[in-house]
Amino acid sequence: MKSAKEANYSVSKISRRVFLAAGGAVAVVALHRIVRRNSTTISSNDRIVNLYSARHYDTDTAIYESFTAKTGIKVNLVEAEADKLIERIKSEGANSPADVLITVDAGRLWRAQEAGILQPIASPTLMSLPQNLYEPQGHWFGLTKRARVIVYNKARVKESDLSTYEDLANPKWKGRIVIRSSTNVYNQSLVGSILAALGPVKTEAWAKGIVANLARAPEGNDTAQIKAVAAGLADVAIVNQYYLLRLAQSKKPEEQEIVDKVGIFFPNQNDRGTHINISGGGVVKTAPHREAAIQFLEYLASKDAQAIFAKGNYEYPALEGVTPDTILASYSKNFKKEDSLNAAVYGRNNAEALKIMDRAGWK
Ligand SMILES: [Fe+2]
Repeated sequence: MKSAKEANYSVSKISRRVFLAAGGAVAVVALHRIVRRNSTTISSNDRIVNLYSARHYDTDTAIYESFTAKTGIKVNLVEAEADKLIERIKSEGANSPADVLITVDAGRLWRAQEAGILQPIASPTLMSLPQNLYEPQGHWFGLTKRARVIVYNKARVKESDLSTYEDLANPKWKGRIVIRSSTNVYNQSLVGSILAALGPVKTEAWAKGIVANLARAPEGNDTAQIKAVAAGLADVAIVNQYYLLRLAQSKKPEEQEIVDKVGIFFPNQNDRGTHINISGGGVVKTAPHREAAIQFLEYLASKDAQAIFAKGNYEYPALEGVTPDTILASYSKNFKKEDSLNAAVYGRNNAEALKIMDRAGWK
């Protein structure tokens, strides 16, 4: 009989070969912590989770390793962009080694669900996450939260000038706004949330107002919008909060200068709350290690893991009562209310949101 170490190692090698055969440009990282506990009593085939993840933070890897240390279940990690992972699971079909898919933005998790590659999971532990953060049938669960905030140039905008996403369509903001392209899923989810709040007619008028107020045609990611605001190319931008936090944590003097020039504002605090989105995960429909996959997601939703998992990208923990990162908390003093709309609605509204942005001329 093979020793536990050998058995685990051969499983790892087989998995890696399967990944590499299907691989292409996708990065493969196997976490090589070998844990001997319990491995003589449990089949080595079950002691593994093949994770396809669009997140790529060192803290995530540390959490996966602590999961292995606790449970003896080894984590094989495949990292790539979300849409590539979804396509890959689709093309691997019934033979996919994937157990868990983790990605950012509910819109993308919805795409995975629509593609039929996730299975519903009825887990009391996962369903103790806030209800708005998981798909009602359990196809996917939010594990971190991000807020889509307004970043403003402090020399040109007073905090009291700001109020809601809706207000940014007011002609008083003409030539003063930057935002990334409508091809970006963050904006699609934001518009999906506005659609749920205001209905199609008002949402289209809003999108047209935003386009009319742009300082430039959409270009670059959220960081580029913050830089444009700091440089005075525009006065306000709509971005995810962690892009500002990343700059704030940078040691580069030029990035410190950018952060000094801008403020953060949480819109709609006096009505439905600031739009939030999630990064999260679900169990793949064909998961060869379903039970281990559920155990893995439950671990990510646990109090211990939550505190660290969100930290990796300056996001908010999904589980209530878990304290966010200290620096993020210091930026979030005026963040009292988040939009409680179920994240699945962003996905459901995605197609209509896209049509609206297209008609509004949002590039
Ligand atoms: Fe992002």
